[in-house]
Amino acid sequence: MATSRRDRADSYTKRAHKEGYPARSVYKLEEIQNTFKLVKPGDSVLDVGAAPGSWTLFTHRVLLKEQGKIIAVDLNPLNLNPIPHTVTAFVGDAFSKDIRSKLVENGPYDVIISDVAPMTMGNRSVDTSRSEYLASQVIYLASEHLKVHGNLVVKVFQGGGQVELIQTMRSMFAKVKPFKPKACRDDSFEIYLVGLDKKES
Ligand SMILES: C[S@@+](CC[C@H](N)C(=O)[O-])C[C@H]1O[C@@H](n2cnc3c(N)ncnc32)[C@H](O)[C@@H]1O
Repeated sequence: MATSRRDRADSYTKRAHKEGYPARSVYKLEEIQNTFKLVKPGDSVLDVGAAPGSWTLFTHRVLLKEQGKIIAVDLNPLNLNPIPHTVTAFVGDAFSKDIRSKLVENGPYDVIISDVAPMTMGNRSVDTSRSEYLASQVIYLASEHLKVHGNLVVKVFQGGGQVELIQTMRSMFAKVKPFKPKACRDDSFEIYLVGLDKKES
């Protein structure tokens, strides 16, 4: 019998719990990394929209092999105890003046990973336009604070503006790919935009 995304999502939740990750979204990053090889040990990584912290913890443990650094930022604190030694966490709006200046101080970055998402209202067009705004802010951050040859992954809810986001990324990166991990739920309209090998500007 075929396995639905919902069944797989449930098995991802159990696995995340068993492996000590606070959210099953960790397996989306695992698939993204297995496909695109975004991060290597020793890299400096910025995680935007990092809470509760699964992507941050996976990056620390598996991708960096505990070598390198992660700057994690979210409106909410990370739910990791202890906070891994490679991680510096900031709580606040990643695009506010205060937090932005901290992100700039700690950059530039080899890789920016972002699973950032708005609080959803259940109104698809509002949710989508908020997600597009957040994704565009992350792409802008990457245009200024991602190193040449660096990589980016950013989440966006599918709908109107994703074509423009892809176009902007094509002007910045040698290769751009939209990617939907199997770990996404069937009813989810999220997609990840992957930019590889940032060009000289
Ligand atoms: C799907 S969750 C991220 C899950 C995370 N990748 C993990 O694996 O644990 C999306 C996050 O984006 C954060 N977020 C939304 N808007 C933000 C903003 N302006 N600045 C920082 N974080 C934001 C939310 O607070 C939320 O924690």
